[in-house]
Amino acid sequence: MFNVAIDGPGGAGKSSVAKAAASLMGLSYVDSGALYRSIGYVLSKTGVDLNAPSAIEEKLQDMELELFYQDHAQHVLVNGEDVTAYIRTQEAGNGASKIAVLESVRNKVNEVIRKTASSLDVIMDGRDIGTVVLPDASLKLFITASSEVRALRRLTELEAAGKPHGDLETIKREIEERDYRDSHREIAPLKMAEDGVLLDTTDMKLYEVVYQVCRLIDEAREKRT
Ligand code: DC
Repeated sequence: MFNVAIDGPGGAGKSSVAKAAASLMGLSYVDSGALYRSIGYVLSKTGVDLNAPSAIEEKLQDMELELFYQDHAQHVLVNGEDVTAYIRTQEAGNGASKIAVLESVRNKVNEVIRKTASSLDVIMDGRDIGTVVLPDASLKLFITASSEVRALRRLTELEAAGKPHGDLETIKREIEERDYRDSHREIAPLKMAEDGVLLDTTDMKLYEVVYQVCRLIDEAREKRT
């Protein structure tokens, strides 16, 4: 398959870029963070402490995780329930980052997303896609931006969606805490693949990033032929 991997810290705009590039370039967008968010959301809804590995692992054993597309949008089912509408909150993101340190959680997610990438041409974003999940991807991008700009983008996104959120300083602090946890964990820490392409989008508009990414996808496709 022709697969594109996008990694980078939270709030860098990976998902907006990946969604736009997917529709322009005929790829299926896979949001791997949505699976971590969904697991975290369901666990905390059922009263599981997201800092308690043994309780998480016990619940995980009989948890069914599935991904499907409806009108080109990805949906996540946990034990048959579509939780997609509940996972784009700052709280779900923080919860996802906590449980993502566990190998059992990562294995569960990787099984689902690798299966998707083996049957569709995907553009998949996350933290370890180019390094661990799809090391043979045709193109590996690392999209980042300063934490100030990322906090502002996250705030704008949460406001536009009418989701609950803290002030800019709180969001920035949470983003930095999450960056630290995602980059310093033992398993699959966030880092750029050795053969990755770095895109620092701090001073870029969304359409400029999308344009660059589409150009890189074109080049990677040409290289394959
Ligand atoms: O991309 P996101 O903000 O939806 O991801 C939420 C959290 O999930 C992120 O802080 C860390 C974790 N995650 C991960 O560990 N590996 C991935 N491939 C994707 C997300």
